[in-house]
Amino acid sequence: MPIYLNNAATTWPKPQVVPEAMYDFLVNSGANLARGTTAKRDLGTMDLVLNCRELLAEFFHGYEDADPRYVTFTSNITESLNVVLKGFLKPGMRVLTSSMEHNASMRPLRRLEQQLGVEIRVLQCDSEGVLPLDVLGEALTEKKYDLMVMTHASNVCGTIQDIEGIARLCRSAGVPLVIDSAQTAGVLPIHVTDLGLAALCFTGHKGLMGPQGTGGIVWNPDFAEKVDWFIEGGTGSFSHLEYQPDCMPDKFEAGTPNLPGIAGLRAALQWLIKEGPAKIHAREIELGARFLEGINKNPSILLAGKKTMEGRLPVFPLNFEGHDHAIIAAELVDRAGIETRPGLHCAPIAHKTLGTEAMGGALRVSVGYFNTEEEIDSCLTALNSILSHPVKAKA
Ligand code: ALA
Repeated sequence: MPIYLNNAATTWPKPQVVPEAMYDFLVNSGANLARGTTAKRDLGTMDLVLNCRELLAEFFHGYEDADPRYVTFTSNITESLNVVLKGFLKPGMRVLTSSMEHNASMRPLRRLEQQLGVEIRVLQCDSEGVLPLDVLGEALTEKKYDLMVMTHASNVCGTIQDIEGIARLCRSAGVPLVIDSAQTAGVLPIHVTDLGLAALCFTGHKGLMGPQGTGGIVWNPDFAEKVDWFIEGGTGSFSHLEYQPDCMPDKFEAGTPNLPGIAGLRAALQWLIKEGPAKIHAREIELGARFLEGINKNPSILLAGKKTMEGRLPVFPLNFEGHDHAIIAAELVDRAGIETRPGLHCAPIAHKTLGTEAMGGALRVSVGYFNTEEEIDSCLTALNSILSHPVKAKA
C-alpha cells in the first residue's frame, strides 16, 4: 500500500460511503436533473441535488437561514473563483489580494488586469505567510476597493489567515470579501453569514472528503445579483425562454451537473457531519505535530513558513541541505512508496513570500485524517535514510 501524504492536493482515501453513493447513483438511479417526468428516478435526482445544496448551505451557515438557492455547484474551486471574479469585476475596478494566493485566484486576476484594466493590489504577507491586519487596514484607508479575494489557509505551508479580522476590516470598509477555502472547507469552521462574506468558494474533494469534479459557491444574495454568468444553456427550467434565467440557482448552472459527483459529495457531507470536523481536525493536528517533532530532529531538513503547529494546517513545505527537494520526493516514492508533492504547488507567489521560489519550491508533505502514526514514522525514517545515504543520480 502506498503511504499517501499529499492530502493538500486531494484527500485520499475517501470514506467508503462516497464511492458507494456514486456507484449507486450511476447503476440504480442515474436520471438527469429536471429533465424528465415525475418518475421515481427523476424525483430522486431532484431530491439528491436539493438535499446536497441544503447540507452545504447549513454546513457553511449560508444567508437567509441557509437558503439552498444561494449555493451554486461548480466542478472545482478554480471554476468557482473564475465565476465570481470574471462575473463581478468590470473595467477600472480595484481588487485586493495577498501574496499567498494560489493561481486559481491569481491567473483570473492577471487576465482581468490585462484584458479589462482591473487594478490589482497584492498585499505582502510575512515570511510565515500571514497577512498582517495592519497591512490590510492601511490599504483600505488609501483607496476605495471593489473586492478582496483571499485564501483562508495556504496550500503551500498551511498558514491560516485571521479570517475574522480580515472580514471585519472589509465589512467596515464596505469591500465585498471572497474567500478561497480550498484547504479549509470541511476542516475549519466557516460561518459565511457571521463573517459577512460576499462569496465563499469551496472545493468538494479536499476537506469535504467528496470526489474530484465537485465544488461550489455559497453566495451573499445581494452580491450574487451583481455577478454576471458566463455559461448559458439548458437549466431544465424556463424552457420557453431563449435567454438564461437570472433566478438562483439556475443563473450559474447551465448544463447537466456532475450528478454522480453530487451523490458522492452528499454522502461525504453526511459522513463528515457525523464523524465531526473538529475531531477530524484534532487528529490531523496530532499527526502533524508528530511529523513536525520528527523533522525538527534532523538539521538538514529545512521547513518554510510557520515553525510550530500554532495557526497552521498539517501541511509542511520542506527543503534539504545539499539536496534537490524534487529528487528527495522521487526517492521517497521509489524507496518507500511515499507520495508527496514537490514543486511550486500552483502558487509561485506564495513560494516567493516564503523564500522557496529560488529552490523551485519545496517538497510538500500534507497529512490527512486516514494517516496513521506508523505512516508518519515511516516517512521520517525514509527521509532520514535518504538524506544520510547519497542519492543516486538517475540514468
Ligand atoms: N491546489 C492543490 C495543491 O495544492 C491541487 O496541490
